[in-house]
Amino acid sequence: MSEREPIGVIGTGWVGLVTAACFAELGHRVVARDIVAEKVAALQAGELPFHEPGLADLVTGNAERLTFTTGIAEVLDEARLIFVCVQTPPTHSGDADLSAVIRAVEEIGSAPDRALVMKSTVPVGTGKTIKREAPELAYVSCPEFLREGTAVKDFMEPDRVVIGAGTGDEWAANAVAELYEPFGAPILRTDVASAEMVKLASNAFLATKISFINEIANVSEEVGAEVTEVARGMGLDDRIGPKFLRAGAGYSGSCLPKDVSGLKQLAGNSGYHFQLLTSVIEVNELQKRRLIGKLNKHLGSLAGKRVALLGLAFKPDTDDMREAASLVLAARLESEGAAVVAYDPVAEERARELLPAVEMSQSAMDAVDGADAVVLITEWPEFAELDWAEVRKRMNTPLLVDGRNFLDAEAVRAAGLTYEGIGRPSASEPQG
Ligand code: UDX
Repeated sequence: MSEREPIGVIGTGWVGLVTAACFAELGHRVVARDIVAEKVAALQAGELPFHEPGLADLVTGNAERLTFTTGIAEVLDEARLIFVCVQTPPTHSGDADLSAVIRAVEEIGSAPDRALVMKSTVPVGTGKTIKREAPELAYVSCPEFLREGTAVKDFMEPDRVVIGAGTGDEWAANAVAELYEPFGAPILRTDVASAEMVKLASNAFLATKISFINEIANVSEEVGAEVTEVARGMGLDDRIGPKFLRAGAGYSGSCLPKDVSGLKQLAGNSGYHFQLLTSVIEVNELQKRRLIGKLNKHLGSLAGKRVALLGLAFKPDTDDMREAASLVLAARLESEGAAVVAYDPVAEERARELLPAVEMSQSAMDAVDGADAVVLITEWPEFAELDWAEVRKRMNTPLLVDGRNFLDAEAVRAAGLTYEGIGRPSASEPQG
């Protein structure tokens, strides 16, 4: 064990904490640093700042190899490979805010035998700028592709590993490639700018697939096709593939919206108008609001109506609500004068901060009590198990809008509810 390369990690958000815990699990000594003292204290006590399946076990199970600290010196003393995993949120102009990255670079400082491994998603050109400022520091771009909810699995079983480095920094790129060898995934060795672009282009492409299928869904509603069948038929073509063709309430979360805007902005800054991504973003914004139209169709005005939201997180198995469709929907409902009640199995605490006017329920059944409509926003598995006859009994008006095409429409209808999905044949009769 002891000859394994020690690793430094800066930033203990989703990417940083998963990177630290997974490398510790592989037998590396890892020193993870965060500037937020309370977060570090909590991590030292084995408490995670967010919900991610399997991660808590890795953190506690590898406590002897995994140190959390607020001090940069401990990181620099122990590791020559330092993974930078800090936030790069969008600024008001749509550019990435690189202040945390810049601070990390300054703190790491220039040393000929030290390498900065960039995991944070940064605009193309960031590596070049950092090399100009800190020429002695080796620089490796190694973008992370993990998804929230399956982050540990994604880290341990990557589809590919991308490693970008320039002339003179080959030693660092070799060391990073060695770290990733046990995963058995294809490793793409390339230049820094291309590695940076792989990350942005991959997320933009995934978002494009989602906006595309959402538009197909919207047209399908008009012409009587069923989008889940259409997606299945398309996905059987090897060139298209079945993934990321689930129509719904749009893409959200901490990455896709930010990275699509970031790439559009990057192109714009270089004088190129990325027309396709402009549409991808607009389609997504409109898609989040479409659920309101479905409620209007059946209920007319929503003033004074009670609407229950099932799921608030941006997707299942996370408590993350960044850019979530639930935020847009709750705000729209409130401005239309509806009373909003919600249930989410893990996001309640975050939701209380973000949606103070929404009444939080302790269970799905409590949420639907007396509701004029139920809207499923997050496909938590427990929602598929609901007793629809009981739901029907409890509701004031039996309208269910399935914002993720997650439920068995026939079972829901058989229980006497009006079912509306996305891009699926729908009931046209208004509710009495
Ligand atoms: C994404 C990328 O998948 C990952 O590679 C990158 O590292 C970070 O960003 P994540 O944000 O965790 O991961 O979520 P993801 O599973 O990609 O889903 C993003 C959003 O798209 C969610 O709101 C999800 O509900 C939505 N989605 C996904 C769809 O609407 N339809 C689909 O078919 C797939």
